[in-house]
Amino acid sequence: MVRGGDIRVSFQQGDQGLFETASGGSGELAVPMAWAFGSGSRGVTLVGLLAKDTYLESAVSFYARTSSLDITPGQQSLPSTSLLQAVGQTNGVRKCFPCHATGPVTFGEQEVAVAEPGVWCEACHGPARQHTQAAARRDVPAARRLIRRLGGLSGERLNQVCGNCHRPPAGGEAGNDFAVAWNVRHQPPYLERSKCFAGGKLSCSTCHPAHQELRREDAGFYRDRCMGCHQAKVGHSRPAPTCLTRPGPDCVHCHMPAVTVSSQLTFRNHWIGVYGGDQALIPVR
Ligand code: HEC
Ligand code: HEC
Ligand code: HEC
Ligand code: HEC
Ligand code: HEC
Ligand code: HEC
Repeated sequence: MVRGGDIRVSFQQGDQGLFETASGGSGELAVPMAWAFGSGSRGVTLVGLLAKDTYLESAVSFYARTSSLDITPGQQSLPSTSLLQAVGQTNGVRKCFPCHATGPVTFGEQEVAVAEPGVWCEACHGPARQHTQAAARRDVPAARRLIRRLGGLSGERLNQVCGNCHRPPAGGEAGNDFAVAWNVRHQPPYLERSKCFAGGKLSCSTCHPAHQELRREDAGFYRDRCMGCHQAKVGHSRPAPTCLTRPGPDCVHCHMPAVTVSSQLTFRNHWIGVYGGDQALIPVR
Protein backbone atom coordinates (compact mmCIF):
# COMPACT_ATOMS: atom_id res chain seq x y z
CA MET A 1 0.00 0.00 0.00
CA VAL A 2 1.20 3.50 -0.76
CA ARG A 3 1.13 6.01 2.09
CA GLY A 4 2.32 9.60 2.61
CA GLY A 5 3.30 10.33 -0.97
CA ASP A 6 5.85 7.71 -2.00
CA ILE A 7 6.15 5.45 1.08
CA ARG A 8 5.27 1.84 0.36
CA VAL A 9 4.01 -0.33 3.21
CA SER A 10 3.99 -4.11 2.89
CA PHE A 11 4.13 -7.31 4.94
CA GLN A 12 6.87 -9.89 4.51
CA GLN A 13 7.04 -13.38 5.93
CA GLY A 14 10.64 -14.48 6.48
CA ASP A 15 12.70 -16.84 8.65
CA GLN A 16 12.51 -14.31 11.49
CA GLY A 17 8.71 -14.09 11.32
CA LEU A 18 6.28 -11.58 9.88
CA PHE A 19 7.46 -8.02 9.32
CA GLU A 20 5.70 -4.83 8.36
CA THR A 21 8.03 -2.79 6.20
CA ALA A 22 7.83 0.84 5.11
CA SER A 23 10.18 1.95 2.37
CA GLY A 24 10.57 5.28 0.65
CA GLY A 25 13.00 8.04 -0.24
CA SER A 26 14.46 8.19 3.26
CA GLY A 27 15.22 4.48 3.64
CA GLU A 28 13.46 1.50 5.13
CA LEU A 29 11.89 0.56 8.46
CA ALA A 30 10.90 -3.02 9.33
CA VAL A 31 8.87 -3.83 12.46
CA PRO A 32 8.33 -7.42 13.66
CA MET A 33 4.63 -8.20 14.01
CA ALA A 34 3.85 -10.42 16.98
CA TRP A 35 0.08 -10.43 17.55
CA ALA A 36 -3.02 -10.62 15.38
CA PHE A 37 -6.20 -9.03 16.77
CA GLY A 38 -9.74 -9.89 15.76
CA SER A 39 -11.55 -13.12 15.04
CA GLY A 40 -11.37 -12.20 11.35
CA SER A 41 -15.15 -12.09 11.02
CA ARG A 42 -14.75 -8.43 10.05
CA GLY A 43 -11.03 -7.96 10.04
CA VAL A 44 -7.62 -8.50 11.56
CA THR A 45 -5.16 -5.88 12.79
CA LEU A 46 -1.53 -6.76 13.52
CA VAL A 47 0.40 -5.41 16.48
CA GLY A 48 4.18 -5.46 16.83
CA LEU A 49 6.94 -4.42 19.18
CA LEU A 50 8.61 -1.29 17.87
CA ALA A 51 11.08 -0.86 20.74
CA LYS A 52 11.34 -1.83 24.37
CA ASP A 53 7.95 -1.16 25.97
CA THR A 54 6.60 0.40 22.78
CA TYR A 55 3.92 -1.45 20.88
CA LEU A 56 2.80 -0.53 17.41
CA GLU A 57 -0.64 -0.95 15.88
CA SER A 58 -0.17 -1.48 12.17
CA ALA A 59 -1.58 1.24 9.93
CA VAL A 60 -2.76 -1.43 7.53
CA SER A 61 -5.42 -4.03 8.39
CA PHE A 62 -6.97 -7.00 6.65
CA TYR A 63 -10.68 -6.68 5.89
CA ALA A 64 -12.82 -9.79 5.46
CA ARG A 65 -15.53 -8.25 3.27
CA THR A 66 -13.12 -7.34 0.51
CA SER A 67 -10.34 -9.82 1.42
CA SER A 68 -7.95 -6.93 1.07
CA LEU A 69 -5.70 -4.58 3.00
CA ASP A 70 -6.63 -1.00 3.84
CA ILE A 71 -6.05 1.64 6.50
CA THR A 72 -6.79 0.56 10.09
CA PRO A 73 -9.87 2.17 11.66
CA GLY A 74 -8.87 5.23 13.66
CA GLN A 75 -5.70 5.81 11.65
CA GLN A 76 -7.34 7.32 8.56
CA SER A 77 -6.61 10.89 9.60
CA LEU A 78 -3.16 10.43 11.17
CA PRO A 79 -0.14 11.88 9.34
CA SER A 80 1.87 9.33 7.31
CA THR A 81 4.75 11.25 5.82
CA SER A 82 7.60 9.65 7.82
CA LEU A 83 8.44 5.93 7.72
CA LEU A 84 7.47 5.64 11.39
CA GLN A 85 4.10 7.30 10.84
CA ALA A 86 3.50 5.18 7.77
CA VAL A 87 3.87 1.81 9.57
CA GLY A 88 1.38 2.61 12.32
CA GLN A 89 0.74 4.27 15.64
CA THR A 90 1.85 3.61 19.23
CA ASN A 91 -0.86 5.27 21.32
CA GLY A 92 -2.82 3.09 23.75
CA VAL A 93 -1.83 -0.16 22.04
CA ARG A 94 -1.43 -1.98 25.37
CA LYS A 95 -5.13 -1.53 25.90
CA CYS A 96 -5.92 -3.89 23.01
CA PHE A 97 -4.84 -6.93 25.01
CA PRO A 98 -7.29 -7.02 27.95
CA CYS A 99 -10.30 -6.73 25.64
CA HIS A 100 -9.12 -9.30 23.14
CA ALA A 101 -7.80 -11.87 25.61
CA THR A 102 -9.06 -13.66 28.70
CA GLY A 103 -7.49 -13.39 32.14
CA PRO A 104 -4.52 -11.38 33.36
CA VAL A 105 -2.15 -9.73 30.89
CA THR A 106 1.49 -9.06 31.79
CA PHE A 107 3.73 -6.79 29.79
CA GLY A 108 7.40 -7.77 29.65
CA GLU A 109 10.16 -5.79 27.97
CA GLN A 110 10.04 -7.86 24.81
CA GLU A 111 6.76 -9.72 25.01
CA VAL A 112 3.23 -9.73 26.32
CA ALA A 113 1.92 -12.75 28.18
CA VAL A 114 -1.82 -13.40 28.09
CA ALA A 115 -3.51 -16.20 29.99
CA GLU A 116 -5.64 -17.11 26.96
CA PRO A 117 -5.90 -15.32 23.62
CA GLY A 118 -9.46 -14.49 22.53
CA VAL A 119 -12.69 -14.09 24.48
CA TRP A 120 -13.39 -17.21 26.53
CA CYS A 121 -15.45 -18.33 29.53
CA GLU A 122 -13.63 -16.33 32.19
CA ALA A 123 -13.92 -13.08 30.21
CA CYS A 124 -17.61 -13.06 31.11
CA HIS A 125 -17.88 -15.44 34.08
CA GLY A 126 -14.78 -14.21 35.92
CA PRO A 127 -11.95 -16.28 37.42
CA ALA A 128 -12.96 -19.93 37.60
CA ARG A 129 -10.09 -21.73 39.34
CA GLN A 130 -11.86 -22.11 42.69
CA HIS A 131 -15.02 -23.10 40.87
CA THR A 132 -13.31 -25.86 38.90
CA GLN A 133 -11.44 -27.07 42.01
CA ALA A 134 -14.72 -27.33 43.89
CA ALA A 135 -16.29 -29.13 40.95
CA ALA A 136 -13.36 -31.57 40.89
CA ARG A 137 -14.05 -32.31 44.58
CA ARG A 138 -17.69 -32.83 43.57
CA ASP A 139 -18.65 -30.07 46.03
CA VAL A 140 -21.54 -28.82 43.94
CA PRO A 141 -22.83 -26.12 46.34
CA ALA A 142 -19.36 -24.54 46.54
CA ALA A 143 -18.89 -24.84 42.79
CA ARG A 144 -22.15 -22.98 42.25
CA ARG A 145 -21.15 -20.27 44.71
CA LEU A 146 -17.61 -19.77 43.39
CA ILE A 147 -18.45 -18.57 39.88
CA ARG A 148 -20.03 -15.44 38.53
CA ARG A 149 -23.47 -16.48 37.33
CA LEU A 150 -24.95 -14.42 34.56
CA GLY A 151 -28.38 -15.95 34.07
CA GLY A 152 -31.13 -13.76 35.47
CA LEU A 153 -29.09 -10.53 35.52
CA SER A 154 -31.08 -7.41 34.65
CA GLY A 155 -30.61 -5.93 31.19
CA GLU A 156 -28.70 -3.09 32.72
CA ARG A 157 -26.28 -5.33 34.63
CA LEU A 158 -25.69 -7.61 31.66
CA ASN A 159 -25.02 -4.58 29.48
CA GLN A 160 -22.30 -3.65 31.95
CA VAL A 161 -20.73 -7.11 31.69
CA CYS A 162 -20.69 -6.96 27.90
CA GLY A 163 -19.90 -3.24 28.08
CA ASN A 164 -16.56 -3.96 29.75
CA CYS A 165 -15.34 -4.59 26.24
CA HIS A 166 -18.21 -3.40 24.01
CA ARG A 167 -17.47 -0.06 25.57
CA PRO A 168 -18.84 3.40 24.93
CA PRO A 169 -16.93 5.55 22.45
CA ALA A 170 -13.76 7.21 23.76
CA GLY A 171 -14.34 10.52 25.51
CA GLY A 172 -17.16 9.41 27.81
CA GLU A 173 -20.54 11.13 27.60
CA ALA A 174 -19.01 13.93 25.57
CA GLY A 175 -17.65 11.46 23.02
CA ASN A 176 -21.08 9.94 22.68
CA ASP A 177 -22.12 11.89 19.62
CA PHE A 178 -24.87 9.86 18.02
CA ALA A 179 -24.47 11.75 14.75
CA VAL A 180 -21.01 10.15 14.26
CA ALA A 181 -21.36 6.97 12.20
CA TRP A 182 -18.28 5.25 13.70
CA ASN A 183 -19.82 5.42 17.18
CA VAL A 184 -22.42 2.87 16.10
CA ARG A 185 -19.86 0.15 16.75
CA HIS A 186 -20.27 0.80 20.49
CA GLN A 187 -23.62 -0.90 21.07
CA PRO A 188 -24.46 -0.40 24.80
CA PRO A 189 -25.13 3.37 24.80
CA TYR A 190 -27.27 2.96 21.67
CA LEU A 191 -29.33 0.12 23.06
CA GLU A 192 -29.87 2.09 26.25
CA ARG A 193 -31.47 4.90 24.26
CA SER A 194 -34.14 2.58 22.85
CA LYS A 195 -37.67 2.77 24.22
CA CYS A 196 -37.55 -1.03 24.19
CA PHE A 197 -34.75 -0.90 26.78
CA ALA A 198 -36.69 1.34 29.13
CA GLY A 199 -39.09 -1.54 29.61
CA GLY A 200 -36.31 -3.16 31.69
CA LYS A 201 -36.41 -6.56 30.00
CA LEU A 202 -34.20 -6.05 26.96
CA SER A 203 -30.52 -6.98 27.18
CA CYS A 204 -27.73 -8.01 24.85
CA SER A 205 -28.64 -11.65 25.39
CA THR A 206 -32.23 -11.12 24.14
CA CYS A 207 -30.83 -11.10 20.60
CA HIS A 208 -27.39 -12.62 21.20
CA PRO A 209 -28.06 -15.72 23.28
CA ALA A 210 -24.99 -16.68 25.30
CA HIS A 211 -22.53 -19.13 23.71
CA GLN A 212 -23.93 -18.83 20.21
CA GLU A 213 -22.49 -17.34 17.05
CA LEU A 214 -23.87 -14.02 15.89
CA ARG A 215 -26.94 -14.65 13.69
CA ARG A 216 -26.20 -12.84 10.46
CA GLU A 217 -28.79 -11.84 7.87
CA ASP A 218 -31.42 -13.84 9.73
CA ALA A 219 -34.50 -11.60 9.64
CA GLY A 220 -36.79 -14.30 11.04
CA PHE A 221 -34.63 -14.87 14.11
CA TYR A 222 -34.62 -11.18 15.05
CA ARG A 223 -38.31 -10.76 14.19
CA ASP A 224 -39.12 -13.49 16.71
CA ARG A 225 -37.17 -11.54 19.36
CA CYS A 226 -39.14 -8.34 18.60
CA MET A 227 -42.46 -10.12 18.54
CA GLY A 228 -41.72 -11.71 21.89
CA CYS A 229 -42.57 -8.27 23.32
CA HIS A 230 -44.53 -6.51 20.59
CA GLN A 231 -47.01 -9.22 19.73
CA ALA A 232 -49.08 -8.38 22.76
CA LYS A 233 -49.51 -4.82 21.52
CA VAL A 234 -51.49 -5.75 18.46
CA GLY A 235 -55.18 -5.03 18.91
CA HIS A 236 -54.81 -2.95 22.08
CA SER A 237 -56.16 0.55 22.60
CA ARG A 238 -53.63 2.18 20.25
CA PRO A 239 -54.01 0.93 16.67
CA ALA A 240 -51.06 -1.31 15.73
CA PRO A 241 -48.73 0.17 13.10
CA THR A 242 -49.12 -1.52 9.74
CA CYS A 243 -45.59 -2.95 10.02
CA LEU A 244 -46.73 -5.13 12.89
CA THR A 245 -49.74 -6.58 11.19
CA ARG A 246 -48.19 -7.48 7.84
CA PRO A 247 -46.72 -10.99 7.80
CA GLY A 248 -42.99 -11.61 7.73
CA PRO A 249 -41.30 -8.17 7.67
CA ASP A 250 -37.59 -7.69 8.35
CA CYS A 251 -38.01 -5.61 11.53
CA VAL A 252 -34.34 -4.76 12.03
CA HIS A 253 -33.95 -3.53 8.44
CA CYS A 254 -36.15 -0.53 9.32
CA HIS A 255 -35.82 -0.22 13.10
CA MET A 256 -32.10 -1.09 13.55
CA PRO A 257 -30.67 0.15 10.26
CA ALA A 258 -27.25 -0.94 9.03
CA VAL A 259 -24.72 1.90 9.09
CA THR A 260 -21.88 1.71 6.60
CA VAL A 261 -18.78 3.41 7.96
CA SER A 262 -16.34 2.47 5.19
CA SER A 263 -16.27 0.32 2.08
CA GLN A 264 -15.30 -2.64 4.29
CA LEU A 265 -17.32 -2.17 7.47
CA THR A 266 -20.99 -2.00 8.35
CA PHE A 267 -22.38 -1.90 11.88
CA ARG A 268 -25.94 -2.31 13.08
CA ASN A 269 -27.52 0.66 14.83
CA HIS A 270 -28.58 -0.67 18.24
CA TRP A 271 -30.78 2.37 18.96
CA ILE A 272 -34.10 0.70 18.13
CA GLY A 273 -36.52 3.33 16.84
CA VAL A 274 -38.47 4.76 13.94
CA TYR A 275 -36.12 6.07 11.25
CA GLY A 276 -37.09 8.40 8.43
CA GLY A 277 -35.82 8.54 4.85
CA ASP A 278 -32.09 7.86 4.49
CA GLN A 279 -31.40 8.75 8.09
CA ALA A 280 -29.86 5.74 9.85
CA LEU A 281 -28.17 7.33 12.87
CA ILE A 282 -30.77 9.09 14.99
CA PRO A 283 -34.41 7.98 14.99
CA VAL A 284 -37.11 10.51 14.21
CA ARG A 285 -38.77 9.23 17.36
C1 HEC B 1 -12.33 -1.66 25.36
C2 HEC B 1 -12.11 -2.92 24.67
C3 HEC B 1 -11.34 -2.94 23.37
C4 HEC B 1 -10.13 -2.36 23.10
C5 HEC B 1 -9.27 -1.48 24.03
C6 HEC B 1 -9.78 -2.77 21.76
N1 HEC B 1 -10.77 -3.53 21.22
FE1 HEC B 1 -10.79 -4.36 19.35
N2 HEC B 1 -12.71 -4.91 19.60
C7 HEC B 1 -13.40 -4.84 20.79
C8 HEC B 1 -14.75 -5.32 20.58
C9 HEC B 1 -15.83 -5.40 21.65
C10 HEC B 1 -14.85 -5.68 19.22
C11 HEC B 1 -16.09 -6.24 18.50
C12 HEC B 1 -17.05 -5.13 18.11
C13 HEC B 1 -16.48 -4.21 17.09
O1 HEC B 1 -16.21 -4.64 15.98
O2 HEC B 1 -16.27 -3.04 17.43
C14 HEC B 1 -13.53 -5.42 18.64
C15 HEC B 1 -13.19 -5.66 17.31
C16 HEC B 1 -11.92 -5.60 16.80
C17 HEC B 1 -11.51 -6.08 15.51
C18 HEC B 1 -12.42 -6.74 14.48
C19 HEC B 1 -12.63 -8.16 14.96
C20 HEC B 1 -13.37 -9.11 14.08
O3 HEC B 1 -13.91 -10.06 14.68
O4 HEC B 1 -13.43 -9.00 12.87
C21 HEC B 1 -10.15 -5.86 15.41
C22 HEC B 1 -9.25 -6.22 14.24
C23 HEC B 1 -9.73 -5.22 16.64
N3 HEC B 1 -10.83 -5.07 17.46
C24 HEC B 1 -8.42 -4.81 16.94
C25 HEC B 1 -8.07 -4.05 18.03
C26 HEC B 1 -6.74 -3.46 18.23
C27 HEC B 1 -5.54 -3.63 17.32
C28 HEC B 1 -6.82 -2.75 19.40
C29 HEC B 1 -5.77 -1.87 20.05
C30 HEC B 1 -5.28 -0.75 19.25
C31 HEC B 1 -8.16 -2.93 19.94
N4 HEC B 1 -8.88 -3.72 19.08
C32 HEC B 1 -8.59 -2.40 21.14
C33 HEC B 1 -12.92 -4.38 22.01
C34 HEC B 1 -11.75 -3.66 22.16
C1 HEC C 1 -19.43 -13.36 25.98
C2 HEC C 1 -19.76 -13.72 27.36
C3 HEC C 1 -19.76 -15.19 27.75
C4 HEC C 1 -18.78 -16.12 27.52
C5 HEC C 1 -17.45 -15.91 26.79
C6 HEC C 1 -19.23 -17.34 28.13
N1 HEC C 1 -20.45 -17.15 28.72
FE1 HEC C 1 -21.52 -18.53 29.81
N2 HEC C 1 -23.05 -17.20 30.00
C7 HEC C 1 -23.05 -15.92 29.51
C8 HEC C 1 -24.35 -15.32 29.77
C9 HEC C 1 -24.77 -13.92 29.38
C10 HEC C 1 -25.12 -16.30 30.45
C11 HEC C 1 -26.56 -16.17 30.93
C12 HEC C 1 -27.45 -16.79 29.88
C13 HEC C 1 -28.90 -16.49 30.03
O1 HEC C 1 -29.29 -15.55 30.71
O2 HEC C 1 -29.65 -17.25 29.41
C14 HEC C 1 -24.26 -17.47 30.59
C15 HEC C 1 -24.63 -18.65 31.25
C16 HEC C 1 -23.78 -19.72 31.48
C17 HEC C 1 -24.10 -20.86 32.32
C18 HEC C 1 -25.37 -21.05 33.13
C19 HEC C 1 -25.14 -20.44 34.51
C20 HEC C 1 -25.24 -18.94 34.52
O3 HEC C 1 -24.19 -18.27 34.67
O4 HEC C 1 -26.31 -18.41 34.31
C21 HEC C 1 -23.01 -21.69 32.30
C22 HEC C 1 -22.83 -22.99 33.05
C23 HEC C 1 -22.02 -21.07 31.40
N3 HEC C 1 -22.52 -19.87 30.95
C24 HEC C 1 -20.79 -21.61 31.13
C25 HEC C 1 -19.87 -21.06 30.25
C26 HEC C 1 -18.63 -21.71 29.82
C27 HEC C 1 -18.14 -23.07 30.31
C28 HEC C 1 -18.02 -20.86 28.94
C29 HEC C 1 -16.75 -21.10 28.13
C30 HEC C 1 -16.78 -22.28 27.30
C31 HEC C 1 -18.85 -19.66 28.85
N4 HEC C 1 -19.96 -19.82 29.64
C32 HEC C 1 -18.52 -18.53 28.11
C33 HEC C 1 -22.02 -15.26 28.89
C34 HEC C 1 -20.83 -15.85 28.48
C1 HEC D 1 -13.41 -9.57 27.28
C2 HEC D 1 -14.07 -8.66 26.38
C3 HEC D 1 -15.46 -9.00 25.89
C4 HEC D 1 -16.61 -9.22 26.65
C5 HEC D 1 -16.75 -9.22 28.17
C6 HEC D 1 -17.67 -9.43 25.68
N1 HEC D 1 -17.20 -9.34 24.40
FE1 HEC D 1 -18.26 -9.61 22.67
N2 HEC D 1 -16.55 -9.38 21.57
C7 HEC D 1 -15.32 -9.06 22.08
C8 HEC D 1 -14.35 -8.99 20.98
C9 HEC D 1 -12.87 -8.66 21.13
C10 HEC D 1 -15.06 -9.27 19.81
C11 HEC D 1 -14.51 -9.30 18.37
C12 HEC D 1 -14.33 -10.70 17.90
C13 HEC D 1 -13.09 -11.32 18.44
O1 HEC D 1 -12.00 -10.77 18.22
O2 HEC D 1 -13.22 -12.39 19.09
C14 HEC D 1 -16.45 -9.50 20.22
C15 HEC D 1 -17.47 -9.81 19.33
C16 HEC D 1 -18.82 -9.92 19.68
C17 HEC D 1 -19.92 -10.10 18.74
C18 HEC D 1 -19.80 -10.16 17.23
C19 HEC D 1 -19.38 -11.52 16.77
C20 HEC D 1 -19.20 -11.57 15.25
O3 HEC D 1 -19.26 -12.69 14.74
O4 HEC D 1 -19.02 -10.53 14.61
C21 HEC D 1 -21.08 -10.14 19.49
C22 HEC D 1 -22.50 -10.30 18.97
C23 HEC D 1 -20.70 -10.01 20.88
N3 HEC D 1 -19.33 -9.89 20.97
C24 HEC D 1 -21.59 -9.98 21.94
C25 HEC D 1 -21.23 -9.94 23.28
C26 HEC D 1 -22.18 -10.03 24.38
C27 HEC D 1 -23.67 -10.17 24.23
C28 HEC D 1 -21.45 -9.94 25.54
C29 HEC D 1 -21.95 -10.01 26.97
C30 HEC D 1 -22.71 -11.20 27.33
C31 HEC D 1 -20.04 -9.81 25.16
N4 HEC D 1 -19.95 -9.82 23.79
C32 HEC D 1 -18.99 -9.68 26.05
C33 HEC D 1 -14.99 -8.85 23.41
C34 HEC D 1 -15.85 -9.06 24.48
C1 HEC E 1 -37.91 -6.96 25.95
C2 HEC E 1 -39.06 -6.43 25.23
C3 HEC E 1 -38.83 -5.78 23.88
C4 HEC E 1 -38.17 -6.32 22.79
C5 HEC E 1 -37.44 -7.65 22.68
C6 HEC E 1 -38.31 -5.35 21.73
N1 HEC E 1 -39.03 -4.25 22.16
FE1 HEC E 1 -39.53 -2.64 21.05
N2 HEC E 1 -40.35 -1.75 22.70
C7 HEC E 1 -40.49 -2.36 23.93
C8 HEC E 1 -41.11 -1.41 24.85
C9 HEC E 1 -41.44 -1.69 26.32
C10 HEC E 1 -41.33 -0.22 24.10
C11 HEC E 1 -41.92 1.10 24.62
C12 HEC E 1 -43.41 0.99 24.76
C13 HEC E 1 -44.10 0.98 23.47
O1 HEC E 1 -44.06 1.99 22.76
O2 HEC E 1 -44.70 -0.06 23.10
C14 HEC E 1 -40.86 -0.48 22.76
C15 HEC E 1 -40.91 0.45 21.72
C16 HEC E 1 -40.58 0.17 20.39
C17 HEC E 1 -40.71 1.09 19.27
C18 HEC E 1 -41.26 2.49 19.33
C19 HEC E 1 -40.12 3.41 19.45
C20 HEC E 1 -40.53 4.84 19.54
O3 HEC E 1 -39.59 5.65 19.67
O4 HEC E 1 -41.72 5.16 19.54
C21 HEC E 1 -40.26 0.45 18.16
C22 HEC E 1 -40.18 1.01 16.74
C23 HEC E 1 -39.85 -0.86 18.57
N3 HEC E 1 -40.05 -1.01 19.93
C24 HEC E 1 -39.34 -1.82 17.71
C25 HEC E 1 -38.78 -3.02 18.12
C26 HEC E 1 -38.09 -3.93 17.23
C27 HEC E 1 -37.95 -3.74 15.74
C28 HEC E 1 -37.64 -4.97 18.00
C29 HEC E 1 -36.79 -6.14 17.56
C30 HEC E 1 -35.54 -5.79 16.89
C31 HEC E 1 -38.05 -4.70 19.38
N4 HEC E 1 -38.72 -3.52 19.40
C32 HEC E 1 -37.79 -5.53 20.46
C33 HEC E 1 -40.08 -3.62 24.28
C34 HEC E 1 -39.37 -4.49 23.47
C1 HEC F 1 -33.06 -6.30 19.59
C2 HEC F 1 -31.99 -7.14 19.14
C3 HEC F 1 -30.57 -6.84 19.55
C4 HEC F 1 -30.10 -6.55 20.81
C5 HEC F 1 -30.89 -6.41 22.09
C6 HEC F 1 -28.66 -6.44 20.70
N1 HEC F 1 -28.28 -6.68 19.40
FE1 HEC F 1 -26.39 -6.74 18.69
N2 HEC F 1 -27.08 -7.11 16.80
C7 HEC F 1 -28.40 -7.22 16.45
C8 HEC F 1 -28.51 -7.38 15.02
C9 HEC F 1 -29.80 -7.50 14.21
C10 HEC F 1 -27.18 -7.40 14.51
C11 HEC F 1 -26.74 -7.57 13.05
C12 HEC F 1 -26.77 -9.02 12.65
C13 HEC F 1 -26.37 -9.25 11.21
O1 HEC F 1 -25.18 -9.07 10.88
O2 HEC F 1 -27.26 -9.56 10.40
C14 HEC F 1 -26.32 -7.22 15.67
C15 HEC F 1 -24.92 -7.17 15.59
C16 HEC F 1 -24.08 -7.02 16.68
C17 HEC F 1 -22.62 -7.04 16.62
C18 HEC F 1 -21.76 -7.21 15.36
C19 HEC F 1 -21.39 -5.85 14.80
C20 HEC F 1 -22.53 -5.15 14.11
O3 HEC F 1 -22.85 -4.01 14.49
O4 HEC F 1 -23.11 -5.71 13.15
C21 HEC F 1 -22.16 -6.84 17.89
C22 HEC F 1 -20.71 -6.74 18.32
C23 HEC F 1 -23.32 -6.72 18.76
N3 HEC F 1 -24.47 -6.84 18.01
C24 HEC F 1 -23.25 -6.51 20.12
C25 HEC F 1 -24.36 -6.28 20.95
C26 HEC F 1 -24.27 -5.92 22.35
C27 HEC F 1 -22.98 -5.73 23.12
C28 HEC F 1 -25.55 -5.78 22.80
C29 HEC F 1 -25.99 -5.29 24.17
C30 HEC F 1 -25.56 -3.94 24.51
C31 HEC F 1 -26.44 -6.08 21.69
N4 HEC F 1 -25.68 -6.35 20.58
C32 HEC F 1 -27.82 -6.11 21.75
C33 HEC F 1 -29.48 -7.18 17.31
C34 HEC F 1 -29.41 -6.91 18.66
C1 HEC G 1 -40.54 -1.12 5.98
C2 HEC G 1 -40.07 -0.63 7.27
C3 HEC G 1 -40.62 -1.29 8.52
C4 HEC G 1 -40.58 -2.61 8.86
C5 HEC G 1 -40.07 -3.78 8.02
C6 HEC G 1 -41.10 -2.70 10.21
N1 HEC G 1 -41.45 -1.46 10.65
FE1 HEC G 1 -42.21 -1.02 12.49
N2 HEC G 1 -42.49 0.92 11.92
C7 HEC G 1 -42.09 1.46 10.72
C8 HEC G 1 -42.48 2.85 10.67
C9 HEC G 1 -42.20 3.83 9.52
C10 HEC G 1 -43.14 3.13 11.90
C11 HEC G 1 -43.75 4.45 12.35
C12 HEC G 1 -45.08 4.69 11.61
C13 HEC G 1 -46.17 3.85 12.13
O1 HEC G 1 -46.45 3.92 13.34
O2 HEC G 1 -46.77 3.10 11.33
C14 HEC G 1 -43.10 1.89 12.67
C15 HEC G 1 -43.59 1.75 13.96
C16 HEC G 1 -43.36 0.65 14.78
C17 HEC G 1 -43.63 0.58 16.20
C18 HEC G 1 -44.11 1.73 17.04
C19 HEC G 1 -45.58 1.70 17.18
C20 HEC G 1 -46.05 2.84 18.02
O3 HEC G 1 -46.40 3.86 17.44
O4 HEC G 1 -46.01 2.70 19.23
C21 HEC G 1 -43.28 -0.67 16.63
C22 HEC G 1 -43.38 -1.22 18.05
C23 HEC G 1 -42.79 -1.38 15.47
N3 HEC G 1 -42.84 -0.56 14.37
C24 HEC G 1 -42.32 -2.67 15.50
C25 HEC G 1 -41.99 -3.40 14.37
C26 HEC G 1 -41.72 -4.82 14.37
C27 HEC G 1 -41.74 -5.69 15.60
C28 HEC G 1 -41.44 -5.16 13.09
C29 HEC G 1 -41.19 -6.57 12.55
C30 HEC G 1 -42.30 -7.48 12.75
C31 HEC G 1 -41.50 -3.95 12.28
N4 HEC G 1 -41.85 -2.92 13.09
C32 HEC G 1 -41.22 -3.89 10.92
C33 HEC G 1 -41.40 0.80 9.71
C34 HEC G 1 -41.20 -0.57 9.66
